[in-house]
Amino acid sequence: MRLLIVGAPGAGKGTQSKLISEKLNIPHISTGDILRNEISSNSELGKKVKHFVDNGLLVPDDLIADVLLNEIKKEKYRNGYILDGFPRNINQVKIMEEKGILIDKVIFIDTSEEEIMKRITGRRVCQNCGQVYNIYYNPPKTENKCDKCSNNLVQREDDKEEVVRNRLKTFREATIPVIDYYSKKGILFRINGDKNFDDIKNEIFEVLGVK
Ligand code: AP5
Repeated sequence: MRLLIVGAPGAGKGTQSKLISEKLNIPHISTGDILRNEISSNSELGKKVKHFVDNGLLVPDDLIADVLLNEIKKEKYRNGYILDGFPRNINQVKIMEEKGILIDKVIFIDTSEEEIMKRITGRRVCQNCGQVYNIYYNPPKTENKCDKCSNNLVQREDDKEEVVRNRLKTFREATIPVIDYYSKKGILFRINGDKNFDDIKNEIFEVLGVK
């Protein structure tokens, strides 16, 4: 299965992608995670993209397309993938189609901006293993420590309120047209993202025909 998960920043794409990935044993590709890893390892790519990511701006299409194409050609994606974070504008849709990257179903996690602000301000991420928490909705057992590896939890650089506003603006202007495009193609399924973790997961599994 080749799935695309779309939604605004903080909508719950990463959270649900991981749950689907575990359930169906399909690998998850998050362009945001790849970029953050490059930035934290201070690689050449990381240096090029840091300014864009930190300010909630889209990384230039040619650069992010190379990142995705390099990743998706790996053997582990041969039987399917859960794509999270790409395509984010219509030009990226074109690039994907030209390169023959296929999508069977698109899941749109539609979360209100009020809920998004709460989720993003409460998000904490393990700086070692990347596990995501939320201090309001799914806090770690020990304050500020990862349940899995006991390392410190941090707030993402781009989770500051002003940057989140930019990310939401980018979503409205660039990514809503992508959602409209897949809706017209008849392969988009809208899920109410304001619900709790389990309800959203169950709705997605229903759309995917998974028990
Ligand atoms: P990216 O990492 O893709 O960020 P995003 O789209 O802004 O999404 P987030 O990771 O913020 O949120 P999410 O929807 O995954 O939410 P999560 O599950 O964590 O991209 C970052 C940047 O990289 C971009 O701004 C851009 O600069 C660059 N980039 C990436 N791809 C690009 C591309 N294709 N082109 C150009 N540039 C690109 O959940 C959020 C929080 O809510 C968590 O704390 C979670 O625990 C909590 N939560 C989740 N679900 C629920 C629920 N149901 N109830 C309560 N809490 C919940």
